[in-house]
Amino acid sequence: MAKQRAKLVVGNWKMHGRLADNKVLLQAVSQGADALPEYVGVGVCVPCPYLPQAQALLNGGRVAWGVQDVSAHAQGAFTGEVAAAMAAEFGASYAIVGHSERRAYHLESAELVATKTQRALEAGLTPIVCVGETLVQREAGDTERVVGMQIDEVLAALSPDDTARIVVAYEPVWAIGTGKTASAEQAQAVHAFLRARLAAKSEAAAERVALLYGGSVKPDNAEHLFRQQDIDGGLIGGASLKHLDFLAICQAAVAANAVR
Ligand code: 13P
Repeated sequence: MAKQRAKLVVGNWKMHGRLADNKVLLQAVSQGADALPEYVGVGVCVPCPYLPQAQALLNGGRVAWGVQDVSAHAQGAFTGEVAAAMAAEFGASYAIVGHSERRAYHLESAELVATKTQRALEAGLTPIVCVGETLVQREAGDTERVVGMQIDEVLAALSPDDTARIVVAYEPVWAIGTGKTASAEQAQAVHAFLRARLAAKSEAAAERVALLYGGSVKPDNAEHLFRQQDIDGGLIGGASLKHLDFLAICQAAVAANAVR
């Protein structure tokens, strides 16, 4: 039987939420997550102003919380930016870095993403490093070159020990918010490629690092994706805003491990 790794399901709320709605969502997710087995980790990455609310409502429970970006700087005159250490002060565990929406709308380079990964690690956060190709790149047969370049830039900036402390999320840009998921086989192929890239840096890290898939993960496709050998869970956008959907995806992680 294939080796089983722990599973991790993280919600990325993006720029959604209001205090009253968040309260209902966080309480429901927290309650539902209490019933999950230990080997399924759960997290939610909220907009920064809601960190204190996440901390107050999730503290002591099964659901970790985090942010969707951090500054490449530790502190200073960088108007509008949020330092990783600030998020850590509110008990955050995770920081998404290099999400394709940041790369596309804020022109974040692979080098900048590598620096942000370092800042997150220094603050004690687990960076969730996002990589992924556009549809044009996929159709040109460029997927491995693009995600290889994105991950290599980050790995070049990290020691083998730090490499073991990151999470990697493969999010094909064409599957985000479009309702088009990569097939489980397409996703697995890229995940295996990423695992091999990690192994070239450190075998031990490759074994430890959780590789999440993101892009239109929903309750009805999650289990099949999570059953793949190198898919250790998901980074969930739209479906993380509905507690029943998000919890159903967490349950899919349980089911996937049961049949693997
Ligand atoms: P959707 O699940 O809405 O496609 O978003 C995926 C994503 O970008 C998570 O970071």
